Amino acid sequence: MTLPTTALGTGGPVVGSQGLGCMGMSEFYGPTDTAEALATLDAALAAGVTLFDTADVYGSGHNEELIGPFVRANRDRVVLATKFAIERRADDPSYRGVRNDPAYVRAAVDASLRRLGVEVIDLYYMHRRDPRVPLAESVGAMAELVQAGKVRHLGLSEVTGDELRAAHAVHPIAALQSEWSVFSRDVERTAVPAAAELGVAFVPYSPLGRGFLTGAFTAAEQLAADDYRRSHPQFSGENAARNAALVAPIQKVAAERGVTAAQVALAWVHQRAEVHGLTVVPIPGTRKRTRLAENTAAATLRLTAAELAALEPVAGQVTGDRYADMTFTSAGRE
Ligand SMILES: NC(=O)c1ccc[n+]([C@@H]2O[C@H](COP(=O)([O-])OP(=O)(O)OC[C@H]3O[C@@H](n4cnc5c(N)ncnc54)[C@H](OP(=O)(O)O)[C@@H]3O)[C@@H](O)[C@H]2O)c1
Repeated sequence: MTLPTTALGTGGPVVGSQGLGCMGMSEFYGPTDTAEALATLDAALAAGVTLFDTADVYGSGHNEELIGPFVRANRDRVVLATKFAIERRADDPSYRGVRNDPAYVRAAVDASLRRLGVEVIDLYYMHRRDPRVPLAESVGAMAELVQAGKVRHLGLSEVTGDELRAAHAVHPIAALQSEWSVFSRDVERTAVPAAAELGVAFVPYSPLGRGFLTGAFTAAEQLAADDYRRSHPQFSGENAARNAALVAPIQKVAAERGVTAAQVALAWVHQRAEVHGLTVVPIPGTRKRTRLAENTAAATLRLTAAELAALEPVAGQVTGDRYADMTFTSAGRE
Protein backbone atom coordinates (compact mmCIF):
# COMPACT_ATOMS: atom_id res chain seq x y z
CA MET A 1 0.00 0.00 0.00
CA THR A 2 1.03 3.63 -0.41
CA LEU A 3 0.30 6.07 2.37
CA PRO A 4 -2.24 8.85 1.92
CA THR A 5 -0.75 12.35 2.00
CA THR A 6 -1.50 15.36 4.15
CA ALA A 7 -0.28 18.97 4.52
CA LEU A 8 2.03 19.45 7.47
CA GLY A 9 0.29 22.48 8.94
CA THR A 10 -1.02 25.55 7.18
CA GLY A 11 1.48 26.38 4.43
CA GLY A 12 3.63 23.40 5.38
CA PRO A 13 4.95 20.69 3.03
CA VAL A 14 2.77 17.80 1.85
CA VAL A 15 3.93 14.53 3.44
CA GLY A 16 2.88 10.91 3.75
CA SER A 17 0.44 10.64 6.65
CA GLN A 18 3.02 8.74 8.71
CA GLY A 19 6.71 9.56 8.98
CA LEU A 20 9.72 7.57 10.11
CA GLY A 21 11.63 8.22 13.33
CA CYS A 22 15.31 7.52 12.72
CA MET A 23 16.63 8.02 16.26
CA GLY A 24 16.94 4.33 17.19
CA MET A 25 19.20 3.76 14.18
CA SER A 26 21.99 5.51 16.08
CA GLU A 27 21.34 5.28 19.80
CA PHE A 28 19.04 4.61 22.76
CA TYR A 29 17.22 1.38 21.80
CA GLY A 30 19.91 -1.30 21.73
CA PRO A 31 22.19 -2.59 18.99
CA THR A 32 21.44 -1.71 15.36
CA ASP A 33 22.03 -3.58 12.11
CA THR A 34 23.06 -0.60 10.00
CA ALA A 35 22.47 -2.29 6.63
CA GLU A 36 18.92 -3.19 7.66
CA ALA A 37 18.35 0.33 9.01
CA LEU A 38 19.44 1.86 5.70
CA ALA A 39 17.24 -0.61 3.80
CA THR A 40 14.36 0.51 6.05
CA LEU A 41 14.83 4.11 4.88
CA ASP A 42 14.45 3.00 1.24
CA ALA A 43 11.47 0.79 2.06
CA ALA A 44 9.81 3.69 3.86
CA LEU A 45 10.12 5.99 0.87
CA ALA A 46 8.79 3.27 -1.44
CA ALA A 47 5.76 2.92 0.86
CA GLY A 48 4.96 6.64 0.70
CA VAL A 49 6.69 7.77 3.89
CA THR A 50 8.27 11.14 3.12
CA LEU A 51 8.81 12.79 6.53
CA PHE A 52 12.10 11.53 7.99
CA ASP A 53 12.88 12.61 11.53
CA THR A 54 16.32 13.06 13.05
CA ALA A 55 18.07 15.46 15.46
CA ASP A 56 21.59 16.70 16.02
CA VAL A 57 21.60 15.03 19.44
CA TYR A 58 20.82 11.48 18.23
CA GLY A 59 24.15 9.72 18.51
CA SER A 60 25.77 13.17 18.90
CA GLY A 61 25.57 13.84 15.15
CA HIS A 62 25.78 10.19 14.04
CA ASN A 63 22.11 9.99 13.03
CA GLU A 64 22.31 13.01 10.71
CA GLU A 65 25.46 11.58 9.12
CA LEU A 66 23.83 8.17 8.77
CA ILE A 67 20.75 9.35 6.90
CA GLY A 68 22.55 12.10 4.93
CA PRO A 69 23.39 9.96 1.84
CA PHE A 70 19.80 8.64 1.68
CA VAL A 71 18.42 12.17 1.93
CA ARG A 72 20.76 13.47 -0.77
CA ALA A 73 19.93 10.57 -3.11
CA ASN A 74 16.21 11.33 -2.79
CA ARG A 75 16.33 15.06 -2.11
CA ASP A 76 13.23 16.01 -4.09
CA ARG A 77 11.03 13.40 -2.36
CA VAL A 78 12.28 13.47 1.23
CA VAL A 79 10.94 16.02 3.71
CA LEU A 80 13.87 16.27 6.10
CA ALA A 81 13.25 17.20 9.72
CA THR A 82 16.00 17.77 12.26
CA LYS A 83 16.30 19.54 15.60
CA PHE A 84 18.58 21.62 17.79
CA ALA A 85 18.67 22.63 21.48
CA ILE A 86 19.93 19.62 23.42
CA GLU A 87 23.58 19.98 24.25
CA ARG A 88 25.82 17.05 25.19
CA ARG A 89 29.36 16.77 26.48
CA ALA A 90 31.96 14.31 25.20
CA ASP A 91 33.40 13.90 28.70
CA ASP A 92 30.03 13.14 30.37
CA PRO A 93 27.65 10.90 28.36
CA SER A 94 24.76 11.48 30.76
CA TYR A 95 24.92 15.30 30.55
CA ARG A 96 22.01 17.07 28.83
CA GLY A 97 21.83 20.86 28.61
CA VAL A 98 19.26 22.98 26.79
CA ARG A 99 20.34 25.91 24.62
CA ASN A 100 17.93 28.26 22.80
CA ASP A 101 20.09 31.40 22.49
CA PRO A 102 20.38 32.88 18.99
CA ALA A 103 24.15 32.28 18.68
CA TYR A 104 23.60 28.60 19.49
CA VAL A 105 20.74 28.34 16.96
CA ARG A 106 22.95 29.78 14.21
CA ALA A 107 25.86 27.47 14.99
CA ALA A 108 23.62 24.40 15.34
CA VAL A 109 21.97 24.78 11.94
CA ASP A 110 25.30 25.08 10.17
CA ALA A 111 26.58 21.97 11.93
CA SER A 112 23.44 20.01 10.98
CA LEU A 113 23.63 21.12 7.35
CA ARG A 114 27.27 20.02 7.24
CA ARG A 115 26.60 16.59 8.75
CA LEU A 116 23.57 16.00 6.53
CA GLY A 117 25.39 17.26 3.44
CA VAL A 118 22.39 19.28 2.25
CA GLU A 119 21.83 22.96 1.53
CA VAL A 120 18.48 23.32 3.22
CA ILE A 121 16.53 21.61 6.03
CA ASP A 122 12.81 21.24 5.28
CA LEU A 123 11.61 21.38 8.90
CA TYR A 124 13.81 22.67 11.71
CA TYR A 125 12.60 22.07 15.26
CA MET A 126 13.56 23.56 18.58
CA HIS A 127 13.92 20.25 20.42
CA ARG A 128 13.51 21.61 23.95
CA ARG A 129 12.56 24.94 25.46
CA ASP A 130 15.01 26.86 27.65
CA PRO A 131 12.74 29.16 29.69
CA ARG A 132 15.72 31.43 30.49
CA VAL A 133 15.77 32.69 26.88
CA PRO A 134 12.79 34.79 25.68
CA LEU A 135 10.88 32.68 23.17
CA ALA A 136 10.67 35.59 20.72
CA GLU A 137 14.48 35.72 20.60
CA SER A 138 14.83 32.00 19.87
CA VAL A 139 12.05 31.85 17.30
CA GLY A 140 13.29 35.13 15.82
CA ALA A 141 16.69 33.50 15.27
CA MET A 142 14.98 30.48 13.69
CA ALA A 143 12.97 32.80 11.41
CA GLU A 144 16.23 34.36 10.23
CA LEU A 145 17.32 30.89 9.10
CA VAL A 146 14.23 30.74 6.87
CA GLN A 147 15.09 34.14 5.42
CA ALA A 148 18.67 32.96 4.83
CA GLY A 149 17.40 29.91 2.92
CA LYS A 150 18.91 27.40 5.34
CA VAL A 151 15.55 26.18 6.60
CA ARG A 152 12.12 25.97 4.93
CA HIS A 153 9.69 25.51 7.83
CA LEU A 154 9.83 25.82 11.62
CA GLY A 155 8.75 23.40 14.31
CA LEU A 156 8.79 23.11 18.09
CA SER A 157 8.96 20.11 20.40
CA GLU A 158 7.56 19.74 23.91
CA VAL A 159 6.11 23.23 24.24
CA THR A 160 2.92 24.18 26.06
CA GLY A 161 -0.12 25.62 24.32
CA ASP A 162 0.80 29.15 25.43
CA GLU A 163 4.38 28.74 24.24
CA LEU A 164 3.13 27.52 20.85
CA ARG A 165 0.83 30.56 20.53
CA ALA A 166 3.66 32.96 21.45
CA ALA A 167 6.05 31.35 18.95
CA HIS A 168 3.45 31.30 16.17
CA ALA A 169 2.97 35.04 16.62
CA VAL A 170 6.68 35.55 15.80
CA HIS A 171 6.80 33.23 12.79
CA PRO A 172 4.37 30.58 11.45
CA ILE A 173 5.03 27.20 13.06
CA ALA A 174 4.33 24.26 10.74
CA ALA A 175 4.52 21.44 13.26
CA LEU A 176 4.58 20.65 16.95
CA GLN A 177 6.34 17.39 17.82
CA SER A 178 5.60 15.95 21.26
CA GLU A 179 4.93 12.60 22.87
CA TRP A 180 1.37 11.38 22.23
CA SER A 181 0.12 7.84 22.48
CA VAL A 182 -2.52 5.62 24.09
CA PHE A 183 -0.30 5.76 27.21
CA SER A 184 0.76 9.39 27.11
CA ARG A 185 -1.94 12.02 26.73
CA ASP A 186 -0.89 15.06 28.78
CA VAL A 187 -0.48 17.03 25.52
CA GLU A 188 -4.25 16.92 25.09
CA ARG A 189 -4.53 19.49 27.94
CA THR A 190 -3.00 22.55 26.23
CA ALA A 191 -0.64 21.72 23.33
CA VAL A 192 -3.09 19.78 21.15
CA PRO A 193 -5.94 22.34 21.47
CA ALA A 194 -3.52 25.19 20.65
CA ALA A 195 -2.18 23.36 17.59
CA ALA A 196 -5.73 22.72 16.38
CA GLU A 197 -6.66 26.39 16.90
CA LEU A 198 -3.59 27.65 14.99
CA GLY A 199 -3.59 25.10 12.14
CA VAL A 200 -0.27 23.67 13.31
CA ALA A 201 0.23 19.98 12.48
CA PHE A 202 1.01 17.61 15.34
CA VAL A 203 3.82 15.09 14.96
CA PRO A 204 3.37 12.53 17.75
CA TYR A 205 6.68 11.02 18.80
CA SER A 206 6.99 7.68 20.60
CA PRO A 207 3.47 6.72 19.37
CA LEU A 208 4.35 3.11 20.29
CA GLY A 209 5.42 4.13 23.80
CA ARG A 210 9.06 3.43 22.86
CA GLY A 211 8.04 -0.10 21.89
CA PHE A 212 6.26 -0.86 25.20
CA LEU A 213 2.78 -0.69 23.67
CA THR A 214 3.67 -3.40 21.16
CA GLY A 215 4.38 -5.90 23.95
CA ALA A 216 7.97 -6.23 22.70
CA PHE A 217 9.20 -5.94 26.31
CA THR A 218 7.47 -5.77 29.67
CA ALA A 219 10.28 -4.60 31.96
CA ALA A 220 13.49 -2.61 31.68
CA GLU A 221 15.60 -5.59 32.80
CA GLN A 222 14.80 -7.36 29.51
CA LEU A 223 16.63 -4.65 27.57
CA ALA A 224 20.32 -4.32 26.70
CA ALA A 225 22.52 -2.85 29.44
CA ASP A 226 23.02 0.41 27.52
CA ASP A 227 19.37 0.76 26.41
CA TYR A 228 18.06 4.21 27.39
CA ARG A 229 14.70 2.72 28.38
CA ARG A 230 16.34 0.99 31.35
CA SER A 231 16.21 4.35 33.16
CA HIS A 232 12.67 5.18 32.04
CA PRO A 233 10.34 5.61 35.07
CA GLN A 234 7.41 3.84 33.41
CA PHE A 235 9.40 0.71 32.60
CA SER A 236 11.24 0.34 35.91
CA GLY A 237 10.45 -1.30 39.25
CA GLU A 238 6.81 -1.67 40.25
CA ASN A 239 5.66 0.68 37.50
CA ALA A 240 6.78 -1.79 34.81
CA ALA A 241 4.51 -4.63 35.99
CA ARG A 242 1.52 -2.28 36.46
CA ASN A 243 2.01 -0.63 33.10
CA ALA A 244 2.63 -3.90 31.25
CA ALA A 245 -0.82 -5.04 32.41
CA LEU A 246 -2.27 -1.91 30.74
CA VAL A 247 -1.06 -3.11 27.34
CA ALA A 248 -3.65 -5.93 27.58
CA PRO A 249 -6.61 -3.86 26.27
CA ILE A 250 -4.52 -2.86 23.24
CA GLN A 251 -3.59 -6.50 22.64
CA LYS A 252 -7.22 -7.58 23.05
CA VAL A 253 -8.44 -5.13 20.39
CA ALA A 254 -5.57 -6.25 18.14
CA ALA A 255 -6.39 -9.95 18.54
CA GLU A 256 -10.08 -9.36 17.82
CA ARG A 257 -9.27 -7.38 14.68
CA GLY A 258 -6.50 -9.69 13.44
CA VAL A 259 -3.92 -6.89 13.52
CA THR A 260 -0.97 -6.17 15.81
CA ALA A 261 -0.86 -4.10 19.00
CA ALA A 262 1.50 -1.65 17.24
CA GLN A 263 -1.10 -1.11 14.53
CA VAL A 264 -3.85 -0.47 17.09
CA ALA A 265 -1.63 2.05 18.90
CA LEU A 266 -0.92 3.91 15.66
CA ALA A 267 -4.55 3.88 14.53
CA TRP A 268 -5.50 5.31 17.93
CA VAL A 269 -3.25 8.37 17.43
CA HIS A 270 -4.67 9.05 13.97
CA GLN A 271 -8.25 8.85 15.22
CA ARG A 272 -7.65 10.76 18.45
CA ALA A 273 -6.41 13.67 16.32
CA GLU A 274 -9.71 13.67 14.45
CA VAL A 275 -11.52 14.20 17.76
CA HIS A 276 -9.39 17.30 18.37
CA GLY A 277 -9.70 18.49 14.75
CA LEU A 278 -6.03 18.63 13.85
CA THR A 279 -3.63 17.04 11.38
CA VAL A 280 -1.29 14.38 12.76
CA VAL A 281 1.72 12.73 11.20
CA PRO A 282 2.99 10.16 13.71
CA ILE A 283 6.64 9.16 13.40
CA PRO A 284 6.97 5.60 14.71
CA GLY A 285 10.62 4.63 14.96
CA THR A 286 11.87 1.39 13.50
CA ARG A 287 15.08 -0.01 12.07
CA LYS A 288 13.45 -2.98 10.40
CA ARG A 289 11.63 -3.35 7.08
CA THR A 290 9.10 -5.83 8.46
CA ARG A 291 8.01 -3.40 11.15
CA LEU A 292 7.96 -0.53 8.68
CA ALA A 293 5.44 -2.46 6.56
CA GLU A 294 3.38 -3.30 9.64
CA ASN A 295 3.37 0.29 10.86
CA THR A 296 2.59 1.76 7.45
CA ALA A 297 -0.46 -0.48 7.11
CA ALA A 298 -1.80 0.98 10.37
CA ALA A 299 -2.26 4.45 8.87
CA THR A 300 -5.50 3.36 7.21
CA LEU A 301 -6.78 1.06 9.97
CA ARG A 302 -10.04 2.35 11.51
CA LEU A 303 -10.94 1.47 15.07
CA THR A 304 -14.62 1.27 16.00
CA ALA A 305 -16.23 3.46 18.65
CA ALA A 306 -16.33 0.45 20.99
CA GLU A 307 -12.61 -0.23 20.45
CA LEU A 308 -11.73 3.39 21.11
CA ALA A 309 -13.86 3.31 24.25
CA ALA A 310 -11.95 0.25 25.48
CA LEU A 311 -8.67 2.18 25.14
CA GLU A 312 -9.96 5.43 26.64
CA PRO A 313 -9.14 4.71 30.33
CA VAL A 314 -5.62 3.35 29.69
CA ALA A 315 -3.58 6.57 29.93
CA GLY A 316 -5.21 7.57 33.20
CA GLN A 317 -3.97 4.38 34.83
CA VAL A 318 -0.31 4.60 33.73
CA THR A 319 2.08 5.01 36.66
CA GLY A 320 5.42 6.84 36.49
CA ASP A 321 6.38 9.97 34.59
CA ARG A 322 7.30 9.84 30.91
CA TYR A 323 10.74 11.34 31.68
CA ALA A 324 12.90 11.19 34.77
CA ASP A 325 13.06 15.02 34.65
CA MET A 326 9.65 16.41 33.68
CA THR A 327 10.92 20.01 33.48
CA PHE A 328 12.27 18.75 30.14
CA THR A 329 8.69 18.46 28.85
CA SER A 330 5.68 20.70 28.22
CA ALA A 331 3.78 19.02 31.07
CA GLY A 332 6.55 20.09 33.44
CA ARG A 333 5.89 23.78 32.64
CA GLU A 334 2.09 23.87 32.49
N1 LIG B 1 11.05 15.35 19.99
C1 LIG B 1 11.47 14.51 20.92
O1 LIG B 1 11.80 14.91 22.03
C2 LIG B 1 11.56 13.04 20.61
C3 LIG B 1 11.72 12.11 21.65
C4 LIG B 1 11.76 10.76 21.32
C5 LIG B 1 11.65 10.36 19.99
N2 LIG B 1 11.53 11.30 19.00
C6 LIG B 1 11.40 10.90 17.58
O2 LIG B 1 10.25 10.06 17.46
C7 LIG B 1 10.61 8.85 16.84
C8 LIG B 1 9.73 7.72 17.35
O3 LIG B 1 9.78 7.62 18.76
P1 LIG B 1 10.52 6.43 19.49
O4 LIG B 1 11.46 5.77 18.55
O5 LIG B 1 11.02 7.00 20.76
O6 LIG B 1 9.37 5.43 19.94
P2 LIG B 1 8.26 4.56 19.22
O7 LIG B 1 8.13 4.92 17.81
O8 LIG B 1 7.09 4.66 20.10
O9 LIG B 1 8.85 3.08 19.38
C9 LIG B 1 10.06 2.70 18.80
C10 LIG B 1 10.40 1.32 19.35
O10 LIG B 1 9.39 0.40 18.97
C11 LIG B 1 9.93 -0.66 18.20
N3 LIG B 1 8.95 -0.95 17.13
C12 LIG B 1 8.64 -0.17 16.08
N4 LIG B 1 7.65 -0.71 15.36
C13 LIG B 1 7.33 -1.87 15.98
C14 LIG B 1 6.37 -2.87 15.72
N5 LIG B 1 5.54 -2.80 14.68
N6 LIG B 1 6.31 -3.94 16.57
C15 LIG B 1 7.14 -4.04 17.64
N7 LIG B 1 8.06 -3.09 17.94
C16 LIG B 1 8.15 -2.02 17.11
C17 LIG B 1 11.26 -0.16 17.70
O11 LIG B 1 12.18 -1.21 17.56
P3 LIG B 1 12.90 -1.55 16.15
O12 LIG B 1 13.64 -0.33 15.73
O13 LIG B 1 13.79 -2.67 16.53
O14 LIG B 1 11.78 -1.91 15.23
C18 LIG B 1 11.70 0.78 18.82
O15 LIG B 1 12.32 0.04 19.84
C19 LIG B 1 12.10 8.70 17.13
O16 LIG B 1 12.74 7.83 16.21
C20 LIG B 1 12.58 10.13 17.02
O17 LIG B 1 12.81 10.47 15.68
C21 LIG B 1 11.47 12.62 19.31
